[in-house]
Amino acid sequence: MTSQLIPVDPFDFVIFGGTGDLSERKLLPALYYRQSQFSEPTRIIGASRAKLSDAEFREFARKAIREHVKESDVKEDELKKFLERLFYISVDAVSGEGFSKLKKALGDSDTIRAFYLAVAPSLFGEISHKLKENGLISPSSRIVVEKPIGRDLASARALNDQIGADFGEHQIFRIDHYLGKETVQNLMALRFGNMLYEPLWNSAHIDHVQITVAETVGLEDRVTYYDKAGALRDMVQNHILQLLCLVAMEAPSSMDANAVRDEKLKVLHALKRINGAEAPKSTVRGQYRAGASAGGPVKGYLDELGNPDSTTETFVAIKAEIANWRWAGVPFYLRTGKRLASRVSEIVIELKPIPHSIFGDNAGRIQPNQLVIRLQPDEGVKQWIMSKDPGPGGMRLRHVALDMSFAATFQERNPDAYERLIMDVIRGNQTLFMRRDEVEAAWKWIDPIFNAWADSRQEVQGYTAGTWGPSASIALIERDGRTWHES
Ligand code: BG6
Repeated sequence: MTSQLIPVDPFDFVIFGGTGDLSERKLLPALYYRQSQFSEPTRIIGASRAKLSDAEFREFARKAIREHVKESDVKEDELKKFLERLFYISVDAVSGEGFSKLKKALGDSDTIRAFYLAVAPSLFGEISHKLKENGLISPSSRIVVEKPIGRDLASARALNDQIGADFGEHQIFRIDHYLGKETVQNLMALRFGNMLYEPLWNSAHIDHVQITVAETVGLEDRVTYYDKAGALRDMVQNHILQLLCLVAMEAPSSMDANAVRDEKLKVLHALKRINGAEAPKSTVRGQYRAGASAGGPVKGYLDELGNPDSTTETFVAIKAEIANWRWAGVPFYLRTGKRLASRVSEIVIELKPIPHSIFGDNAGRIQPNQLVIRLQPDEGVKQWIMSKDPGPGGMRLRHVALDMSFAATFQERNPDAYERLIMDVIRGNQTLFMRRDEVEAAWKWIDPIFNAWADSRQEVQGYTAGTWGPSASIALIERDGRTWHES
């Protein structure tokens, strides 16, 4: 079966922060790729403080497409058509200048309107209110916001209140781009499109779960944001907890947005709080020191930052537990970090050992079955099983993988997460977006970890760039007689 491009209704897509980094690297290229799904008339309107003409914005977009879309995918006639749908309006979110112009441009029609806020979260409330005051919000309008949604529960609530004062929850699309990744959506296909796994998917058969999101990059020009956030806020509160939810949730009754989000929410509510006394045993905070990464020497975090006093964590490992019937007693080991040994995101489901071996000592060690879901790169699924070593020598067993590589199995291009997510915004499908209560439930679990770190004065531990993080992270899992899966 080949992929299908289902046309969407005509829409106006307004990008606040239209000349920013996200617009350049992700939004404009994603829109370009999906142009063949558009119906006419569809317009993309860049909106930011800079004073630009339509022609200048089009030139910005041309460069963005040339730089961020694969060369063979850029066709001159399609690019020309794409650029013709681009317009630009200078808008100042603080003074309100430009909103009336935007209103005039959008007119009174009930065409779908998506307001994408690719700006600092401190401007979310301001922009949302100005849209309302200027009569720009129609029943078919939607607003799209990116993380970080707050830096703790209180600030997330405040942000949600601000936007919620102007838009209904069904109009608010909170992006977690991990949910747009093909391999992450495939988690649901794997779990709920097969009979094979469900009977085993519980504490009777699963020993533990590991979720790793490792990166080799460092600060990447995001000094101010990252040092205020740190790995727990930047990666765990959103991406990693979303992955955990997809692994742990009950089968929703359908792919309906609320059916799926209700189930994820139950998992978040069932996460056991990590309090002050437990934090040193169940969590590790790390910060990279100078080392080697991606083929060359790299500076330590503090040097890269230019502040010797920062205690921001660039690495976190957590032993999480879900207090419900399905998962009681099954640890979920989570880890993420910058400047690690390699870039890999994967989920490992390790089953319990067999209860008794019939094979004797010559068979070698009978290792537990593992299901390894590789989200990126080299996307695929490996199921590790014991198999007989061929040939003479008696019954010797070997751990081998049934290996399904996405690239080898599917010929289609692997689309970027933003392509799918933007089209879902236009369709009004919220399945892959975070509902308000999910975001807040995630903070409810994260906040106590920060408090525990502060109360117990749990120090940030150094690790050499290019390694797998602090030794305490290895100890965290090895204390339980387990090891991190070698990627
Ligand atoms: C972002 C984080 O949400 O996700 C970044 O803010 C991180 O720090 C990025 O690098 C990772 O995304 P991906 O798609 O490259 O795995």
